[in-house]
Amino acid sequence: MKNLTTALHYHDRTKHHPSRYAASLGYMDWATQPNPFRRYKNAPLIPLTHSDTTPPYHLLFANEILPSAPLCLESLSQLLRYSLGLAAIKSQGGSSWALRCNASSGNLQPTECYVIAPAIDGINQQSTLSHYAPREHALELLHTYKIQLVGDGFYLALSSVLWREAWKYGERSWRYCQLDAGHAYGAIKIAATMLGWECEIIQAQTGEIGHLCGVDQYGRYDSNEHESPDMLIRIQTPQGNLPQTPKLDSIANTLSPAHHPWEILGIIDDATQGEYPSPPNLIQSRKSSTPTKSAGEIILKRRSAQAMDGSNITEEQFRQLLNSSLFYCHTPDVNFFIFVNRVDGLERGLYAYIRNPNTLPLLQASLKESFAWEDKQEGLYLLQQGDFRGVAQRISCNQEIAKEGAFSFGMVCDFSSVLETRGAIGYKNLYHQCGKIGQIMYLEATSLGLSATGIGCFLDDEFHALLGLENQQFQSLYHFTIGRGIIDTRVSTLPPY
Ligand SMILES: Cc1cc2nc3c(=O)[nH]c(=O)nc-3n(C[C@H](O)[C@H](O)[C@H](O)COP(=O)(O)O)c2cc1C
Repeated sequence: MKNLTTALHYHDRTKHHPSRYAASLGYMDWATQPNPFRRYKNAPLIPLTHSDTTPPYHLLFANEILPSAPLCLESLSQLLRYSLGLAAIKSQGGSSWALRCNASSGNLQPTECYVIAPAIDGINQQSTLSHYAPREHALELLHTYKIQLVGDGFYLALSSVLWREAWKYGERSWRYCQLDAGHAYGAIKIAATMLGWECEIIQAQTGEIGHLCGVDQYGRYDSNEHESPDMLIRIQTPQGNLPQTPKLDSIANTLSPAHHPWEILGIIDDATQGEYPSPPNLIQSRKSSTPTKSAGEIILKRRSAQAMDGSNITEEQFRQLLNSSLFYCHTPDVNFFIFVNRVDGLERGLYAYIRNPNTLPLLQASLKESFAWEDKQEGLYLLQQGDFRGVAQRISCNQEIAKEGAFSFGMVCDFSSVLETRGAIGYKNLYHQCGKIGQIMYLEATSLGLSATGIGCFLDDEFHALLGLENQQFQSLYHFTIGRGIIDTRVSTLPPY
């Protein structure tokens, strides 16, 4: 109960209001900018391989499952390369920065990944714990286990360096870390599907996850830079018990020379530990899509648009984008409320896309009585006609991308009842659900020659008021816009490896 109260308090306190944004430093303290790359001193580096051959993107969603790759150095390398690896190096005016396959708020990249794998030729003849180093596209070997994992399955553990996001976003940053973790899982699931591998999050205790990858050994980290365990992912079917990780020797690098404390982040982090929930499956599933480029090309090309050109998209594209969000089946708590700005064949207005039909009656009863709920088929409902472009921009912290995109939307989650039934960790999981959806919608937009941008900065209660939501039964946790991006020709792109 105490944890639930903490989560509700944190959620309310970190809302952006038109006259008061959630507390942050308010400026960029470049002197303390965190290093986006975690490294472990004394950990042997095992280079991973590069392979450009990936199946066509549309086959990831075909009914016939892609052939399952054997677990070997090459396949593990592909999984990591096309999920959490670098996608491009951008440079402008003498400075350069790396972008990754997984989107991350402010490109601050809080998510770290640990691999718990059986013996693999080219890695080790024993089962290992290692950390993925994306800049080097290599594994840092942290431990070899005496007890062996067998079979062709393995585990990935994700954790977040909360400080990386806190540096820029202050108190709201915990939310962004969770959305980013969802994006990271989303990216891993896509890359696993490419390899014909099953991939799912296990209902593990966060304490066990932290213990497994050694992030609970606080002495190995700068006290302001420890990692919070997020989720444990099972790839294929590993056999044998999860190994026990002893005290590790390797010490984590220091990411910033100094830090700004945000007490509330430690409090919400503590309150949201526990057994990772397993939300029920969605009733609907995504359809297959039309042939496009290779999955690898789309993954590497995915970029956030920083400006949209204000042109229209077709209704078919719009519906395909919405439908793509059904790819991750354990995301039943998210429905979309959409500002349709420019979609051929659809009148401008506010729409609902009901991903989970079970929530429709409650939503209809909770939202403004004046909404028309005109059935537009396939889960789409027109609530109110009108030009919402200005509103979309205002609600997205005045960001023009929401106005100039073909559409923008809020991911509205079943909130208070999920927290009551799954506990405070259910709050964390809701962000993970939204982040996963965000990752696939970025990729789907890229596959259609369009662009997308995740929007973490939005005016929470302004949006709720527009929908007529007066309590915390439903809350919007992530916003998004899709349209035609304008390429900034001043920024040049280099291959990452
Ligand atoms: C959770 C999340 C929130 C984001 N919020 C915003 C935002 O409010 N405004 C914006 O312009 N970009 C936003 N972005 C886009 C990121 O800045 C972008 O992903 C990052 O710079 C990396 O670039 P890339 O997506 O091209 O790899 C967000 C991304 C994520 C994942």
